[in-house]
Amino acid sequence: MMKKDADLTQIVQDAVDKQRLYAESGKGGVYDISENLVAKPCWHEYSAQNEYIIASILFEAGVSVPQPKTVLQISRGVVPYALQNNIKNEGSLVYFLVMQKISAKTIDELNNADKKYAISKYKNELTKVYQHGIMPGIDTLDNNFGNALYDTTTKTIWLIDFEEWEITTPEEALKDKTSKLHVFDRKIKLRK
Ligand SMILES: Nc1ncnc2c1ncn2[C@@H]1O[C@H](COP(=O)(O)OP(=O)(O)O)[C@@H](O)[C@H]1O
Ligand SMILES: [Mg+2]
Repeated sequence: MMKKDADLTQIVQDAVDKQRLYAESGKGGVYDISENLVAKPCWHEYSAQNEYIIASILFEAGVSVPQPKTVLQISRGVVPYALQNNIKNEGSLVYFLVMQKISAKTIDELNNADKKYAISKYKNELTKVYQHGIMPGIDTLDNNFGNALYDTTTKTIWLIDFEEWEITTPEEALKDKTSKLHVFDRKIKLRK
């Protein structure tokens, strides 16, 4: 059964208080909140809601993304210093996205053989994203592969981190696809 948001808020607050980190992140870490769920701090309310909406659309469309659960406000008072420092302008609240926990490494952390295969799967999955009228953010297409997780056991790719992604039309997205995937291809070439 899905926990009520009030209960979940308490659980996330607890994980933050106790620093139960599942992964490092630029915003103070992604928190381990249950067997199946993690909570990620977002830059601000808009980007948390944006990530939730984009993840919902992609999940419904069958694109491989962690299932989004809800967006919660957590009081800043108990958020660790590093996070407070990074999120300066949000009054007393930080917005967290609660989502399905994925047990996998980022593509950046893979060995070369796995990396090559993971990148080809990553490109396939991104192509589906464009076909659904969604444009990945520049942080997905720039100089690292930190926004894709790859499970070496099941050979599954997972797209993550949609705070800066945009909803547009399939026509616009496909127009954009050529140039964006071009950047992506160049990045792959540079890293070989
Ligand atoms: N659903 C998830 N399950 C497991 N780990 C995750 C999940 N989402 C994010 N992470 C981990 O947290 C890190 C940061 O997440 P990300 O969404 O990229 O946030 P940021 O905006 O901080 O870059 C990822 O590189 C990954 O290691
Ligand atoms: Mg990221």
